[in-house]
Amino acid sequence: MKYFQYINGELFIEGVAISKIASEIGTPFYCYSSTKIESEYKDFSDAFSKINSTICYSVKANSNLSVIRTLSNLGAGADVVSGGELLRALKGGVSPQKIVFSGVGKTDQELEMAIESDILQINAESLSELSRLNIIAEKYNKIPKVGIRVNPDVEAGSHDKISTGRKEDKFGIDWENVGEIFVANKNFKNIKLVGLAIHIGSQLQSLSPFEEAFKRLEELLTTLMSENHKIETIDLGGGLGIDYSQDLVLKISEYSKLVTKYFGNYDCNIIFEPGRRIVGNAGILIAQVICIKPGIEKQFVVLDAAMNDLLRPSLYGAIHEIIPITNNGPKSPKVLADIVGPICETGDIFATGIKLTNISEGDLVAINSAGAYGAVMSSFYNSRPLIAEVMVKDNNFEIIRKKLDISSLLNYESMPNWIKT
Ligand SMILES: Cc1ncc(COP(=O)(O)O)c(C=O)c1O
Repeated sequence: MKYFQYINGELFIEGVAISKIASEIGTPFYCYSSTKIESEYKDFSDAFSKINSTICYSVKANSNLSVIRTLSNLGAGADVVSGGELLRALKGGVSPQKIVFSGVGKTDQELEMAIESDILQINAESLSELSRLNIIAEKYNKIPKVGIRVNPDVEAGSHDKISTGRKEDKFGIDWENVGEIFVANKNFKNIKLVGLAIHIGSQLQSLSPFEEAFKRLEELLTTLMSENHKIETIDLGGGLGIDYSQDLVLKISEYSKLVTKYFGNYDCNIIFEPGRRIVGNAGILIAQVICIKPGIEKQFVVLDAAMNDLLRPSLYGAIHEIIPITNNGPKSPKVLADIVGPICETGDIFATGIKLTNISEGDLVAINSAGAYGAVMSSFYNSRPLIAEVMVKDNNFEIIRKKLDISSLLNYESMPNWIKT
């Protein structure tokens, strides 16, 4: 099934015309295909059906409750990195026994929440975290299961800002020091060290960084096991890239072969934390052209969506394909244009120097592959509202997050007496 396609020149998501949603709710808005999310999850879980595994959808990629619920209905677990995400995962119907909590700086309150909720595993990233966990667990009279996030010191080969497994990155415990942590842990009576975890980066387009990290992790695993440390879980993180615009895309079957080669023979639960791969290509951002402004060398197509709605192009120089919602009528000449938002920042650009046909003021466009790290990174910058999110299933659509208007934001603000007139 094609989830996004033109039918008689009109862009549809599943069985619903984008123009129909736009005319009912206005623009801009995010729109997700529920069936595509389900299909991506099934592809991932099918690839690991023969090994003992838990697939923990990485909630940070898209934390809308309807997205989480769609996945938990299929049996997915969740990878969370804050108390807020933990709350969302639980509200989204994820079993606590399928939740892992990652993150380099969990607060005591967040650790308390994780311990109280009896989650599958807390991935600790420092000795100080283990020590705090030990104290908190005693208070709750519980023995939480803990994994150690290992920094394997490998280059992910993706963007600098989403590479997380090099020794200069803040994440994890240097692989050479993990043995000492297991020894030190003997002093912590209230936690049970059960596993090792890695996550080397996001949007990986080659297997080789994974292989490098897996080699190091396996070495560590055999050493720890030979020293009689019992390892029950191996958490391999997320990171599989998606196709943004003819990018090289890793085949899940190849990734699964690699995982099986390194870890298939261990009697362990293999945990995966895919985010982008599950939701990235299942969502688009719909915007309207406010104006087309001629410049000296090129035109500027100004949209009503901006960097506060989709930050990736400004933050990472990420490239998202942009297509018109209506693709019929006589073809006008291609014009060289920058597609920009209305925010007062030169960096508020969605695409530089692209050629568009058939684009006029008032037209709608779709910014593709915006299902991951889109809505979750949005902000109120320039006092712009948070835009609506819509989910489509077959011929139906529902608003799954209402637009958050500025008046509700203003309700959270108050003025001290000394500046009131
Ligand atoms: C610990 C951890 N796990 C999983 C993920 C999800 O990564 P991706 O969306 O690339 O699969 C991330 C993303 O940064 C992460 O930090």
